Amino acid sequence: MMQGVPQPAFYIFKCQQSAPPGMPKPSCVSQNDPESQQLFQHLAQSLMMKGIIGTVQPIQTGCLNRCQQGPVMLVEPGHTMYVELTKEKIDKIVDEHIIGGNVVQEYVIADEMWGEPVPPSQMAR
Ligand code: FES
Repeated sequence: MMQGVPQPAFYIFKCQQSAPPGMPKPSCVSQNDPESQQLFQHLAQSLMMKGIIGTVQPIQTGCLNRCQQGPVMLVEPGHTMYVELTKEKIDKIVDEHIIGGNVVQEYVIADEMWGEPVPPSQMAR
């Protein structure tokens, strides 16, 4: 019997938005912050080195609307928004959440910035 192609266990959406120079608005990738420019590559390399790149898919995405708390990334499934990322924090998230199955609460966005979603059925015209 043919084995099906397994779906990924996780998608990790890393915000790669970079504000143009001179823009007052903060962005997750900043010209003035070299580490912010290396975080996606660091994430992808760490997934590769741990042998889980197939079942964990890192995605470069645009603004996720939490720019003040950048750099941010969203882990799905689970709708887990991680904020103020560094390489060290990403390593810990990969080990403890992605491999270990436990959300790293100390790096998760504050509740008041991540309230319950409004169902589209309530908003649809
Ligand atoms: S620039 Fe990353 S959330 Fe807006």
